[in-house]
Amino acid sequence: MKIFVYPGSFDPVTNGHIDIIQRAAAICDKLIVAVLVNQSKNSLFSLEERVEMLKASLSCCPNVEVCSFSGLLVEFARKKGAQVIIKGLRAVSDYEYELQMAHLNKKLDDNIETLFMMASLNYSYLSSSIVKDITLLGGDIEGLVPKVIKSAIIEKIKTTQQK
Ligand code: PNS
Repeated sequence: MKIFVYPGSFDPVTNGHIDIIQRAAAICDKLIVAVLVNQSKNSLFSLEERVEMLKASLSCCPNVEVCSFSGLLVEFARKKGAQVIIKGLRAVSDYEYELQMAHLNKKLDDNIETLFMMASLNYSYLSSSIVKDITLLGGDIEGLVPKVIKSAIIEKIKTTQQK
C-alpha cells in the first residue's frame, strides 16, 4: 500500500494546501495530512482548530486522514508506514529550505523519499500568512480558503484582534 505524508502547520489550511492534498491523494492509496504540534512556532489557531478545519475541508476525500504529530517527521512517517513525504513548491524561494529539509530527512531515514509537487499557478502566490494578513486588514479571502471554514477564520481573527 502506497502511503504518503503531507506535513505542515496549516495555520490555517488554504486552497493551495487543498490542491496539493487532492492531487497527491490521487496518486497514492492513503494520504496522511500531518499537522505539526507547533512547539516554538506561534500559531494563531490551536492544534484542535487546525485539525478540525482540515477535516471539515476534506470530508469528501475518502483516502485522506488528518493526524497531528510532534517530534521528527520521519519518525512519524515510519510509524504510519509511509514511504513518501509530499511537499508543495510555490516559487524558487521555497526551494532552498525544502531542499535542506529533504536532504536532512533522507539522512535521518534513507527509506523515506521526499516528493515535490508544483503548486498550481492559481495558488502559487498563496500562503497561510497572506490569508491572515488579508483578513486582519479587512480584505476578502473568498477563493483563497475552503468555503466551509471561511467564516471560522474571519471570526477567529476578529476575536483575536479584540484581545
Ligand atoms: O507548514 P510549515 O510550517 O512550512 O511545515 C513545516 C514542517 C512541519 C514540514 C517542518 O517543520 C517539519 O517537518 N517539522 C518536523 C520536525 C522535523 O522532522 N525536523 C527535521 C526536518 S529536517
